[in-house]
Amino acid sequence: MTVDIQPRAAAFWDRIYSAPNTIFEPIPPYEIYHFQDRTGAAPGQTAVDIGTGLGEWANQMAQLGMRVTGYDCSPVAINRARELHRKAALDFVVHDFDLEPIPRSLRAGSVDVLSCRHSLHFLDVQRFLVDVRRWLRRDGVLHITTAVTDKMRDGRNVGMSEERVRALLYGWREHDRYDVASDGSITALVLRGPHG
Ligand SMILES: C[S@@+](CC[C@H](N)C(=O)[O-])C[C@H]1O[C@@H](n2cnc3c(N)ncnc32)[C@H](O)[C@@H]1O
Repeated sequence: MTVDIQPRAAAFWDRIYSAPNTIFEPIPPYEIYHFQDRTGAAPGQTAVDIGTGLGEWANQMAQLGMRVTGYDCSPVAINRARELHRKAALDFVVHDFDLEPIPRSLRAGSVDVLSCRHSLHFLDVQRFLVDVRRWLRRDGVLHITTAVTDKMRDGRNVGMSEERVRALLYGWREHDRYDVASDGSITALVLRGPHG
């Protein structure tokens, strides 16, 4: 049986992040290592984390020396992220990318690396990607980490199908892909050069 949960409302996520037993999952060191290696993430660059949740991935990017803003539609998550990670180079903003106008902080051509870690499939993907191409610098990178639903053994349907993942590769100057989980159930895309 597959369970299809593609929740969109901030209230849904607020409930999850309000639960005292919400799991704060540490990010394995190899994941951030591969991210840095494949994207060329470097100190001083501007990075954005979309659907940042409790902000641990944004925190890891900040530890690479990047200036990072994490956005999430859940005010509860953002408040907790601010409490958990206090760093000058790290900022957290409540924003719903499906329902609200583009935040002023996301100016055209201003972002070196934009990351969506387990969050892209919750958004209106086609519309969002048009905006992402505008926000990125000419040499900027969109880094996507997602579960591949075809390859998940537990029947969960949270993530993207292999077909949807492959469709994301088109229209970029360069694209690269690597598996975050050795069985391919979690994959990462590195899409560089938003204008082809
Ligand atoms: C599965 S969690 C991933 C959290 C974090 N990136 C991680 O890797 O642990 C998906 C996140 O996307 C956020 N999200 C979902 N829809 C959103 C939207 N329309 N705008 C902004 N954030 C959204 C949720 O609040 C949630 O924190």
